[in-house]
This record gives sequence, C-alpha cells and structure tokens, in this order.
Amino acid sequence: MQRAAAACVTSVVALFGAPMAASASEAALGLPALAAPPAAQVALGRALFFERRLSINGTLSCAMCHVPEQAFTANELRTSVGMEGVSLRRNAPSLLNVAFVQRLFHDGRAGSLEEQAVMPMIHPDEMANPDLAGVVSRVSTWPEYRMLFRRAFGSGRPTARGMATALAAYQRSLLAADSPFDRWRFGGHPDAITPQQQRGFELFVTQGCSSCHSVGERDALFSDQRFHNVGVQMRSEASRQRDLRVELIPGVDAVMTRDALRRIGVPDASDLGRQEVTGHTSDARAFRTPSLRNVALTAPYMHDGSFDTLEEVLDHYRVGGWQADPRQDQRIRPLPINRDERDAIVAFLRSLTSPRLPDCANAAASRRACGPTR
Ligand code: HEC
Ligand code: HEC
Repeated sequence: MQRAAAACVTSVVALFGAPMAASASEAALGLPALAAPPAAQVALGRALFFERRLSINGTLSCAMCHVPEQAFTANELRTSVGMEGVSLRRNAPSLLNVAFVQRLFHDGRAGSLEEQAVMPMIHPDEMANPDLAGVVSRVSTWPEYRMLFRRAFGSGRPTARGMATALAAYQRSLLAADSPFDRWRFGGHPDAITPQQQRGFELFVTQGCSSCHSVGERDALFSDQRFHNVGVQMRSEASRQRDLRVELIPGVDAVMTRDALRRIGVPDASDLGRQEVTGHTSDARAFRTPSLRNVALTAPYMHDGSFDTLEEVLDHYRVGGWQADPRQDQRIRPLPINRDERDAIVAFLRSLTSPRLPDCANAAASRRACGPTR
C-alpha cells in the first residue's frame, strides 16, 4: 500500500501540462481493432483516475489499487487494501486491454466500463462515499475540472454520467499488445520468440489451455470471456482450514488455527464467484477467464491472488487443479507434462509482455494516449 501510494503522487498540474497525442484507431498487433475513445474524454478520465479526492477522506484513488507502474494492478498485494486498511477479498485485475472485457469483475457483475466506473466510488470498503450525488457536488467545487468537463462534453458542469464515460474512455486507451508472441504469430517474424517459447505455445494448445484462454487466427485475447471453476477457491479455503504452526520465539512453536489468524486480521474470504451473480449452483466458484497478456507482470495470480508465481499456477494445473471440488471444470485434469515442458509453457507466457508497458505508465503521468500509436 505504501508503494502504491507513492506511485500515485502525480500532481494534477502534471496531468494537465503536456500536449495531447492524436488518438489512433488502428489495432495493436495481436488485438482486434477498436475505435479510439475521444481524446478529451481520455484526458478527463485520466485526471479522475489519479484523483484521491474522489474518495470520502481524500486518501484513495483508482491508481492506488491499479498502479500504472505495476501493469495497472498491485503486485505486492494478494487482495486489495481499501479504505482504512480494510482487506478486500479479491485481487485487483490489471486494467491493460480491459477495453475488450465484456463482463467486468472476476464474477462478471458489471456489464460495461461505464457501469463499473462508479462502483468503487460508493463501495463502503473502497472509496466509501455514501452516494454519487455527493461525489459530483464535490467535483463541481474543483475549478480545474471545469475546463476538462467542457472539453470532453461541451459543458463545464460535472455529472456522474460524464465521470463514468470519461473513466471508461481512459481505461479503453490502455492497450498493450505487440508482444514478441504477437510478432511471431501475427507479424510474420519467425525469430521473435525462442524455440522454447514456441514449444511452450504448442503445449499451451495441445494441453487444452487455449480452450479457455482463446487464441484466434488474426488476434488473441487469451480469454473466452466465460466463467469457469478451475479449483482455486476451494483450494484456498482448504489451505485456510489447515492449522498453521508458527514459531513464536526460536524453539517455541504454537499451533494457530486459521480461524485464530482470521481474528487478528486475515479476512474470511468465502467467495462463490459467478454464482453470486447468477444464483446458479452450476456457477459455484467460477471466475472469468483472465487474459494472459502481460501476465509475467501481474503477479500475484487468480481472483484471490493465491499464487505468487507462474510456476505455481502451472503446477496447480499439472496436478489437475483441486479435484476435491465437485464443481471443478471437467477440462481441468492432471496433465502429462514434465518439468521442462512446464517451464516451456511459462517461457511462452513470458513472451506475452508488451513492450508498450513503460509507455502506458508514462502516458498515465503525462497527457498522452497509451495505445497503438506508432
Ligand atoms: C481499494 C482498491 C481499489 C480501488 C480504489 C479501485 N479498484 Fe478497481 N478493482 C479492485 C478490485 C479488488 C477489483 C476486483 C473486484 C471483483 O472482481 O470483485 C477491481 C476491479 C476493477 C475493474 C474490473 C476489471 C476486470 O478485468 O474485470 C475495473 C475496470 C476497475 N476496477 C476500475 C477501477 C476504477 C476506474 C477505479 C476508480 C474509480 C477503481 N477501480 C478503484 C480494487 C480497487
Ligand atoms: C476450463 C477453462 C480453463 C483452462 C482449460 C485453463 N484455464 Fe487458466 N484460467 C481459467 C480461469 C477461469 C482462471 C481464473 C481462475 C480464478 O481466478 O480463480 C485462470 C487463470 C489462469 C492464470 C492466472 C492469470 C491471472 O492473471 O491471475 C494463468 C497463468 C493461467 N490460467 C494459465 C493457464 C494455462 C497455462 C493453462 C493450461 C495448462 C490453463 N490456464 C488452462 C480458465 C482456464
């Protein structure tokens, strides 16, 4: 949290200073084409994204949980820390390429970026505002926003709808593809990735990973946009049940139950995932298939951040997920792959990092678009 806080002390002046880049409408290599959002809306959305005064006590901005320098997630936290240090139960997703996500949040409960954008503002553990009207009237008292609203929407009067539209526009500008994998697969560069990474991709397909993390002929989102139970939640619950042996002082152990630990600050993280939205038990503990783009930079992994490394994620798949969960997807079975093959898949995943990432972080601090500009 400290680091996240430090990362976001970009002053409003800096955000407004530099000239604006022309918006591009071409596709980044590896992503479907997308109309560029209006630059003036992006500029307003960017200012709001870094605005700590949006939270009830002026401490928390979007950028503190979705840190630009950390691929718009927070690497040091398994699950986000919200208002007054409250632990949230889920990991903050990276916002890179979020333009392509159809149903937002790990359980898909928001249908659009516009709808999503105002939710953190009134979430009691996030920005904790009692209502949106209060936020809007606060923004109305900040003179520097009048010009931004006027440029974006023709009127200097802030509205909740305008804020949502602008935040969505900014997030749609966070495109990051053109990775070595994209240059190899879609750009016709046979040497853009190593033979080990090519072998890893082959395994990724033959071992069934791409049945959920989709790869098309012309582009790849690495997500089917659907919800599946791959055994993570029940595995996490089981490990919370297990008693923990803690060394109090050298030579003196105490057995702490997970319950006891919970009482000293570890939250109870029961989570039914997609079932909480649909009410169907068939959706129990199912979460949206995340894109794997830039995955080397978005640790920790899974909806609850329960895996620290890609090797751990692969080992989870290698042993067949969490077979004790009767609702686990049938496709998750023990995989006949050895350690070298596992490492090849991990190497392939590392080829999905966009060279534009520093650009996105810098663009966040100046007033440029981060996208497929060349
Ligand atoms: C306290 C930390 C925190 C703050 C502040 C915060 N977020 Fe998030 N954000 C999260 C977490 C955690 C999730 C995942 C929640 C879930 O899936 O239930 C999330 C999810 C999202 C998603 C969905 C992404 C996806 O792939 O489904 C978007 C978009 C998003 N946040 C944007 C924002 C914006 C815009 C703001 C500021 C208005 C903001 N967030 C403020 C922690 C935070
Ligand atoms: C049945 C669909 C399905 C299959 C098959 C599948 N995945 Fe996943 N994958 C998911 C879902 C759903 C999640 C998120 C689960 C969660 O958060 O609880 C996920 C998460 C991940 C993550 C973590 C990403 C992040 O940002 O947290 C990685 C890495 C990953 N999968 C790689 C793979 C690899 C490699 C394979 C093949 C060995 C594979 N997946 C097979 C659906 C699938």
